[in-house]
Amino acid sequence: MKPRNVAQSEQHKLRLQAHHERFTGSTARLFTTFFSDEGLTSYATLVATVDAATAKCVLDIGCGDGTLLAELARRTPAMHLYGLDASSAELELARKRVPGASFVQADCTDRLPYPDESFDAVLSHLVMMLVGDIEATISEIHRVTRPGGTVSFLYDDLPSDPNGIYVDLMRYGVQAALQKAAPEEFREASDHRLYDHATLQALCARYGLAISEHRHFTVSRELTEIDAWPMMATSYPLSGLDEDARGRAREAIARRFRERFDERVVASLPLQFVKAHRL
Ligand SMILES: C[S@@+](CC[C@H](N)C(=O)[O-])C[C@H]1O[C@@H](n2cnc3c(N)ncnc32)[C@H](O)[C@@H]1O
Repeated sequence: MKPRNVAQSEQHKLRLQAHHERFTGSTARLFTTFFSDEGLTSYATLVATVDAATAKCVLDIGCGDGTLLAELARRTPAMHLYGLDASSAELELARKRVPGASFVQADCTDRLPYPDESFDAVLSHLVMMLVGDIEATISEIHRVTRPGGTVSFLYDDLPSDPNGIYVDLMRYGVQAALQKAAPEEFREASDHRLYDHATLQALCARYGLAISEHRHFTVSRELTEIDAWPMMATSYPLSGLDEDARGRAREAIARRFRERFDERVVASLPLQFVKAHRL
């Protein structure tokens, strides 16, 4: 999980772009069916970190199809909402879903297209683990957040759960698709600093963000064999493969499900949750 070199980064961006064109809105379709112990989706968990009484301007980084902003708009219609994403296909959906919000196509590792101290709260849901080098993004989040403003993000924690249902089914699916042992790092590589509490805290502190909460967090739902493929089909490692390879993955995932579980099982997706404020 090392930061990538330039060529890897370009390839990674192209793959992400193709994925989001082919499976637009797939993250939200999956994650709105998983719930925390408190009965909240991961979107609602992030929305709950925004203080509706003081936050007037909120930015969602990597807003995808606008599901998080739609939830904010429902709760607090008077808020000014902004969404940024690299994918034009996702933004097209987001614009329809949240017509009152302002959207822009941009890469969050570049300078963000907003003036200094524009936002009372910055959110990001399942994006940071896709950013090869998070330092530029953290520095820009600091710049566009007002002093005292809040920053909250959630990202996947699959490395902490190598035998969890999701990673296990993925390993079998990828192995069958590629017809060879799945590479150790078959998931998109993330910036390893996200996964070390002290390192992330120090990095955020260097850019003027004080972390007040950093914890593991899971969302769960009941899963049957029939649901297993829809859950895995739009995952990054499988989404770019041809139909034959995806067919092999689908069969292997169904087989593995039957081998490991009875008719149904509670599947948990591991995440990490970070809340900080701008100094
Ligand atoms: C897993 S999806 C999450 C989408 C949305 N936040 C949600 O949870 O429904 C990741 C999103 O991040 C966007 N993304 C990935 N890398 C990005 C980058 N460097 N800059 C901006 N957006 C990026 C993708 O286009 C995609 O919409």
